[in-house]
Amino acid sequence: MPVQFCTGMYGNRQSSKPGGRARMELTKIQGASHDIEGLRTIVARQAISANALAALGLAMEARVQDKPLDSDTARRIEAVLGEFGVSGIVADASAAELAPVLAGIRVDLLSAVKLLSQPSADGETRRLEASMRQAFGDVSAGFPALLKRSIAPQLEGLLERLEAPGAAFLDIGVGVGVLSVSMLRQWPNLRAVGIDPLPDAIAQARSNIKAAGLRHRIELRIGLGQEIIDEDAFDLAFVPSAFIPDPQVRAIVARCRTALRPGGWLLLAMINPGPDALGAALARFRTTLWGGTVFENGEAEALVEQCGYADTRLLPGPAGAPITFVAGRKPG
Ligand SMILES: C[S@@+](CC[C@H](N)C(=O)[O-])C[C@H]1O[C@@H](n2cnc3c(N)ncnc32)[C@H](O)[C@@H]1O
Repeated sequence: MPVQFCTGMYGNRQSSKPGGRARMELTKIQGASHDIEGLRTIVARQAISANALAALGLAMEARVQDKPLDSDTARRIEAVLGEFGVSGIVADASAAELAPVLAGIRVDLLSAVKLLSQPSADGETRRLEASMRQAFGDVSAGFPALLKRSIAPQLEGLLERLEAPGAAFLDIGVGVGVLSVSMLRQWPNLRAVGIDPLPDAIAQARSNIKAAGLRHRIELRIGLGQEIIDEDAFDLAFVPSAFIPDPQVRAIVARCRTALRPGGWLLLAMINPGPDALGAALARFRTTLWGGTVFENGEAEALVEQCGYADTRLLPGPAGAPITFVAGRKPG
């Protein structure tokens, strides 16, 4: 799921920070005048954010690909990173840590370009390009580390299950397979079944899984998550509701209960619009673009409970991302 850098929602202003260095601060634009000049001002301020994402992305791309930028570009980008105070982290973080953050930028910028170049396309058409699918997938590469570090320890028995011989993961909406690959790298005993209705996505997943040398541990299926017929087969089921239409998510959550082993966990990833009105409006806008579901307050927990899961709880997503997880356990 995308790790969003929320500059697109805000204007930027300079402020002095301890240490004497001026940094960009994110401030919501308020009180802009309602004439064409006011509109121009808003657009100009937001363009700063779009360009900042491009510069941050280029810096991270150079690190992830291990291909240094030419000296002029590097110098200019360094100045931008310096304004955000992130030069150190971009230089020191591992490629594996940077890749999902970079993918989040790609998702934001690619979907913006796609939307503006095909304004009347439906959600399905917009998402079809391979580069876009790969970017969405790459965002999820950071999830297994988060799951291990802060989510699974709160879900009774899940870590033990993922570590045990015969452990099984159900990846609904497997996309290009990045999440499954990362899960299998994190847990060496784990096997996965990934399902997705898009044959092109499954073909990309096949190629990514082959490149990762994990063909023997992942079964790919072309189909809909709500049509799986497995019973008592999985220890963890993952459902990315922000990409799946509402009635289908509901049917999938119900089906997963049958597919899970007794004591196994469902993780329903969902958009969390958050308390900020502009951020919330943008989160809903983007989710609708992707053809997915926005659950309003308490709706997702209610759905999971109604489907017969126990120990239902809401868990925070990655820092800064408008994502939350609802977890529920199959009784037994
Ligand atoms: C953004 S992708 C998830 C990325 C994935 N984690 C990866 O590593 O590539 C979401 C996927 O959900 C799939 N999807 C949408 N509706 C679905 C359904 N009813 N059942 C299963 N998958 C579905 C879409 O085709 C899309 O590929």
